[in-house]
Amino acid sequence: MSGIYIHIPFCRTRCHYCDFYTTTQIKRKPELVDALIKEMELRQLWLEGETIKTIYFGGGTPSLLSADEVSMILDAANNLFRLDSKSEITIEANPDDLSTKQIRLLANTPVNRFSIGIQSFHNHQLQLMNRRHTAQEAVDSVKRVQDAGIHNISVDLIYGLPESNRTLWNQNLEQVSALNVKHLSAYHLTYEKGTVFEVKSRQGKIFPCSEEESILQFKALVNWAKEQDFIHYEISNFGKKGFFSQHNTNYWMQQKYIGLGPSAHSYNIETRSWNVSNLSVYVNTIQKGELPQESETLSEKNKYNEFLITSLRTRWGIKLDVFERLFGSEEKERLIQKAAPYIKQEKLYLKDNSMILTDEGVFLSDLVLSELMVLPDED
Ligand SMILES: C[S@@+](CC[C@H](N)C(=O)[O-])C[C@H]1O[C@@H](n2cnc3c(N)ncnc32)[C@H](O)[C@@H]1O
Ligand code: SF4
Repeated sequence: MSGIYIHIPFCRTRCHYCDFYTTTQIKRKPELVDALIKEMELRQLWLEGETIKTIYFGGGTPSLLSADEVSMILDAANNLFRLDSKSEITIEANPDDLSTKQIRLLANTPVNRFSIGIQSFHNHQLQLMNRRHTAQEAVDSVKRVQDAGIHNISVDLIYGLPESNRTLWNQNLEQVSALNVKHLSAYHLTYEKGTVFEVKSRQGKIFPCSEEESILQFKALVNWAKEQDFIHYEISNFGKKGFFSQHNTNYWMQQKYIGLGPSAHSYNIETRSWNVSNLSVYVNTIQKGELPQESETLSEKNKYNEFLITSLRTRWGIKLDVFERLFGSEEKERLIQKAAPYIKQEKLYLKDNSMILTDEGVFLSDLVLSELMVLPDED
């Protein structure tokens, strides 16, 4: 089972926390669409023999594409790859793009899942983040997508914001319940280098939320999810039964994917490659018939660490029989030994031949992972 990721790098303005590769040169959409189709042609054999089950338009702001542009890209994908007719096709969308007309047009394309970036339902937090929509506009956009008959909807929220507290966070979660969406991605704010938030926090102009408060907000999230029948299937992801993101689950299950567009990453078990993070270089190189790409062949250690990181993030954990098949019985014993203190501390548990993080362990997943991973100099 394989997937296609398509990076649409355009944003009208930049949010103060975001370091994804984006540009405000929206008028260059036609160039990008042309280049994306050309990239598919150039890389048609990259997933040879594989059936594509998921397509994900990520960004940037894919909802800036017209429905015609989305259809052109999907038609090309359909012609050049072996696409399952029941594929999950997601588009990331910003609330301010979701007019009734745009939703109706997008709903007439094969897109069947919307992932709406909301971040917060509090206007003062939205302003702090430099978002372009109000809380009311966010609520209305979700309802409009539902009114158009699309119910496979995910929303993104960010917790651990500066000056946030549990009351504000719980109100955000209550709003998600009220909207009756099927999926929530809730990310802890990271201060990415070079973003306005990171610069302001270094200058003492904004104050990161304390670690203790962050953990309490995460615990509130986990408890809320249990009460609302959301399944906590990955550290930051919560879905109602039958509504997990298939595309992201494929990443965590080490399935192959091809990433198209500037900055997109691809993975095919043996290698990982990434496109240049520059629209002009990307378009010009593709137009010359070349790939604007670097790649690395994954060493055994890379594979081992990737397997650990991606598996432990999920509620299915590390399947020990798969681990043994990939890395051998000696490595499996070594892993179990390394994990023993965390199993004793109830941060990890063993069930049905799988090693899984407990709720407590999820809070400390970075620490647990750093202990279990193999360091480059460790042989
Ligand atoms: C690639 S962004 C694109 C989404 C869409 N353009 C939007 O803004 O609504 C995907 C999600 O990543 C999350 N995100 C991006 N930067 C983040 C950061 N520094 N800390 C936490 N979450 C972040 C946000 O929740 C965002 O909705
Ligand atoms: S969060 Fe979304 S809209 Fe904001 S800058 Fe990042 S990609 Fe663009």
